[in-house]
Amino acid sequence: MITDLHANGGTGTNGHDSAGGPKANAIEVENIVKKYGDFTAVDGVSFQVKEGEIFGLLGPNGAGKSTLIRMMTTLIPITAGSARIAGHDVEREPDAVRRTIGVIPQALTSDLDLTIEENLNIYAKLYDVPAKKRKATIEELLEVVDLTKWRSAQTKTLSGGMRRRLEIARGLVHSPRIFFLDEPTTGLDPVSRVSVWEMLTNIKSHRELTILITTHYMDEADRLCDRIAIVDHGKLVALDTPAALKASVPGSNVIEAQFENAPADWEQRLRKLGDVTSVQHEGAGMYRILTGNGSQTTTALVESAVKAGVGIKSLSVQNTTLDDVFVHYTGRQLRDELQKAYAFVMPQRPGLQP
Ligand SMILES: Nc1ncnc2c1ncn2[C@@H]1O[C@H](COP(=O)(O)OP(=O)(O)O)[C@@H](O)[C@H]1O
Ligand SMILES: [Mg+2]
Repeated sequence: MITDLHANGGTGTNGHDSAGGPKANAIEVENIVKKYGDFTAVDGVSFQVKEGEIFGLLGPNGAGKSTLIRMMTTLIPITAGSARIAGHDVEREPDAVRRTIGVIPQALTSDLDLTIEENLNIYAKLYDVPAKKRKATIEELLEVVDLTKWRSAQTKTLSGGMRRRLEIARGLVHSPRIFFLDEPTTGLDPVSRVSVWEMLTNIKSHRELTILITTHYMDEADRLCDRIAIVDHGKLVALDTPAALKASVPGSNVIEAQFENAPADWEQRLRKLGDVTSVQHEGAGMYRILTGNGSQTTTALVESAVKAGVGIKSLSVQNTTLDDVFVHYTGRQLRDELQKAYAFVMPQRPGLQP
């Protein structure tokens, strides 16, 4: 249905044909640095993204994700290092880079007084999409993001999720080969978040597109991304597939338990339980235990609590998640960082649903 939207295919940066041979790199970032005065926001980050990949930059607020995207998309100058997008250097060939990419910035930027269709049209004209192609492309994109029946609605009447979907469509009107999305789901309710994921997966399945997405949602990165780079304080701390990242953390289950009347050496005793690889005391009787065998450790834990007269107020056993990966590499919990950063809740617009 949207075959017309195929990206410009062709040869990639390494000269390999995108249909055969090894995949070329769509993005090559080498030792990139951004300083604001004395402050280093991005501190020597390197990575490559292959054509067709969905690559995630995962990290807490202030990690440097938006700064990285702004450098890769030519919006701010880089302090040191280099970035090549579809083979074009961001410093030497910024126009060539801009023609190849679509960008969805973190802030919502569509014009509130225009309708959905008008917003799309203006962008298509801005990018010189020929009139005939423009019409067909917009029809198809409206379908893809499920906004056809709202095409004449003013943007200010839309819910946050619908506005995001409009912006995703808008970022694709000129059939870019590489699509940058900066926190496309932040502030959305869970249902809208899932619909944005589905939209992105749908778009990917219909065209040749490389996607670089930033997020602080671990479940989102886990579900959407082929590979994830975890960034913290401007540095890349880990990079791999979600499965490999999780496998790199010792232990395959996480037990979170809250105890009552635990003795002073309780943490040491927990460490001695079978298969336990690490124990972290998080205060208020809460312990986080990594283990290679969740069920055996849980049984042993309950037995020793009973023996020691220690009460168990809560107990949960889970598979390791990207949150555990974050803890492993940074010593902090991503969700705690986020609770600090997003202590306020973004107000939901009373608007059209969903
Ligand atoms: N224009 C700027 N001037 C000074 N500091 C900035 C500027 N933009 C971002 N920063 C700082 O750089 C760091 C990284 O910011 P940012 O890239 O927005 O992080 P993220 O997108 O991961 O939340 C933060 O500490 C932020 O305060
Ligand atoms: Mg940001």
